[in-house]
Amino acid sequence: MENNPVWHPYTQEKLYPLPLKVKRASDALIYLENGTVLIDAVSSWWVNLFGHGRLEIAEAIALQAKELEHVLLAGFTHEPAIQLANGLLAVTHGHFSKVFYSDNGSTAVEVALKMALQFFYNKSQHKSVKVIAFEEAYHGDTFGAMSVGARSAFSKPFDDLLFEVRRLPRPNFHNHDEVLSAFETEMKSGDVAAFIFEPLVMGTAGMKMYDASILDDLMKMAKDNGVILIADEVMTGFGRTGKHFACEYLKVFPDIMCLSKGITGGFLPLGVTLASDDIYKAFYSEDRNKTFFHGHSYTGNPIACAAANASLKLLLSENMKEQMSKLSIQLTEIKERLEQHSNAVDVRVKGNILAFEVKVNSTGGYFSEIRDRLYGQALSKGVLLRPLGNTLYTIPPYIVTEEQLQQVEKTFEYILENN
Ligand SMILES: Cc1ncc(COP(=O)(O)O)c(C=O)c1O
Repeated sequence: MENNPVWHPYTQEKLYPLPLKVKRASDALIYLENGTVLIDAVSSWWVNLFGHGRLEIAEAIALQAKELEHVLLAGFTHEPAIQLANGLLAVTHGHFSKVFYSDNGSTAVEVALKMALQFFYNKSQHKSVKVIAFEEAYHGDTFGAMSVGARSAFSKPFDDLLFEVRRLPRPNFHNHDEVLSAFETEMKSGDVAAFIFEPLVMGTAGMKMYDASILDDLMKMAKDNGVILIADEVMTGFGRTGKHFACEYLKVFPDIMCLSKGITGGFLPLGVTLASDDIYKAFYSEDRNKTFFHGHSYTGNPIACAAANASLKLLLSENMKEQMSKLSIQLTEIKERLEQHSNAVDVRVKGNILAFEVKVNSTGGYFSEIRDRLYGQALSKGVLLRPLGNTLYTIPPYIVTEEQLQQVEKTFEYILENN
């Protein structure tokens, strides 16, 4: 790519034309330098909750930057980090007692895995099976997160370096007994350290949804067997599934929860890993070897925390609650209309996420031309979608307008009629 010094993520630059240059963004709209306006129907990789340029968050960032831009978090603390930790502990109903900061979703997962494994190390308990995860799972792009994710084209160059993980079939509303019995076999055959999962919606797998009852059964069995439960709510967190956290649909709560993406309302990178009191107690000791030796230079950055505090306040506001439930109803109505279309397969909605497969001759896959065609067709209609193979989905900012949603729906219809 000539004259472009930036190496873009998830992009084979020889095959793709120049990236679209963005000038500014406001609410659910992205304004390109060439004058085109796009609806951000995927919330910029699922991070934006309340629309671009949200003033409350922008102002909180500006104020914080003038007061304290950053200070190391080892041996020091500051109000934005304390306030955010208290806010997150409260909004997760007191199930956790500590909040560990990092920088993104992948690091939130790395921290969770290290916490779970060191928990047993600190207790001098050997576990022969380290982690169980779902087939088709995605937990991030760093090595630990890749290890617990599915083996795929993304991980292939590194597959022989990733640690072994036992797999459970992905739940799909029809295979409750199969998933449960696979888990039971694992429980019987080995002592297992941890079970990591994306609760109720598996994003990168293709916005695949499953019901709470299977997860409740798995979590209960895991608890009975002393297995640490890690909920990866990096995508589902902060209202995406219709409740603040997908885990609120469950009877059993996890021991560890990973959050990122929407945490700052889509303004700044920040990851958090919440730990229960039991987990924390295994590290709290006079023995220095039991310390959690993990940290990043920008851990607990005050500006990112200030953005997250402003974002949490917005999330909890009555106004946003109304917007979120209105959006969920609107998406359900769109679902009902799309179901009438013979080319739309398995139209599904959970909270503020709508997804379906486009009936095409081949199943697509991440590298398929179908994906590129659907992506281009959406752009030509002024809508930013990022199809996953032949799966189309929308996960818009909560403030998306009715007219904008209509445009997204029309784009879906256009794609369904032209493939
Ligand atoms: C469930 C889940 N976990 C972890 C990650 C990784 O987050 P990040 O891209 O911020 O590293 C993602 C990203 O899509 C995700 O969907």
